[in-house]
Amino acid sequence: KPFAIGVDIGGTTTKSGIVNHRGAIVGTGNVLPTGMYFSAESFVEALYKALLPAMEKVGMENIRGIGVGAPNGNYYSGTVEYAPNLPWRGVVHLAQMITDRFGLPCSLTNDANAAAMGEMMYGAARGMKDFIVLTLGTGVGSGIVCGGQMVYGHDGFAGELGHTIARRGRKHWSTGMDGSLEAYVSATGIALTAKVLLDTWVGPTLLRNFKEEEITSKLICECVLQGDELAQKVFDYTGEILGEALSNFVMFSSPEAIILFGGVIKAGDLLMRPTRKHMERNLLPIFQNKVKLLFSELKEADAAILGASALVWERKEETLLEK
Ligand code: BGC
Ligand code: NA
Repeated sequence: KPFAIGVDIGGTTTKSGIVNHRGAIVGTGNVLPTGMYFSAESFVEALYKALLPAMEKVGMENIRGIGVGAPNGNYYSGTVEYAPNLPWRGVVHLAQMITDRFGLPCSLTNDANAAAMGEMMYGAARGMKDFIVLTLGTGVGSGIVCGGQMVYGHDGFAGELGHTIARRGRKHWSTGMDGSLEAYVSATGIALTAKVLLDTWVGPTLLRNFKEEEITSKLICECVLQGDELAQKVFDYTGEILGEALSNFVMFSSPEAIILFGGVIKAGDLLMRPTRKHMERNLLPIFQNKVKLLFSELKEADAAILGASALVWERKEETLLEK
């Protein structure tokens, strides 16, 4: 009975699980608050402890390896480099560190690529050869699949769509870049939009009842559902920027579908409606009304864990081929 471990490192939390060969998650590690681990060493140690009970349950000798999805992760080098939403600076040789601590082979890729692999194998992208997964969470990431192949690019970092320029006028809190998509449509960016709009809003709004640090994309959602006009404006604005960005991505690679993924999609139609409108409006006629705009069907943590764990089997096939 072979098993693989899948780890999804997010800007806010890290989730992990043990996956069997059929793609079922049979055990999970404790969720870790990523931002609390100021060194990668302490993070790897915590990850080991978090997974130990589940690993012992399936038997250490049955685990074939570990697959990791990480922000700014590099599939070629197994490194995490200058991740804007992680506490670690510079180049971190994370796959090597995990291999050393766990005594298991470790493969690493970008977290959004892992999500895209999960969608391709088990989710909304099953059977598709050309699609883009855009993850909307603490940061904004993407996995681009063209002709059935994940696009890694020359050096393994391809597909950082969250850092493409969407609209000048807002500086990214970590990279300092002016106008990145992530600064607007991530959970962090949506909360920022609410604060900006609130500054000049004269009408009534529920958002005024909250402290600045309490205004999250989740709260804004709840306010829209209670009919709050300003909260609705936040999603309209977010959808406008997201839709324009998506139209660029569509014309770049002509995907069959764009699959939105991550915490922010809980906003559902509130976000989808303006996004679709602005995407279609900015497309050439040859692309109009063709691209499916979908939400991930998988539980968020599951897709990324499954996708990351798939790296383990992929690696095994590679080594089998080599022999
Ligand atoms: C990182 C990406 C990552 C995304 C989501 C971005 O800030 O640059 O690599 O996929 O956040 O975590
Ligand atoms: Na990516």
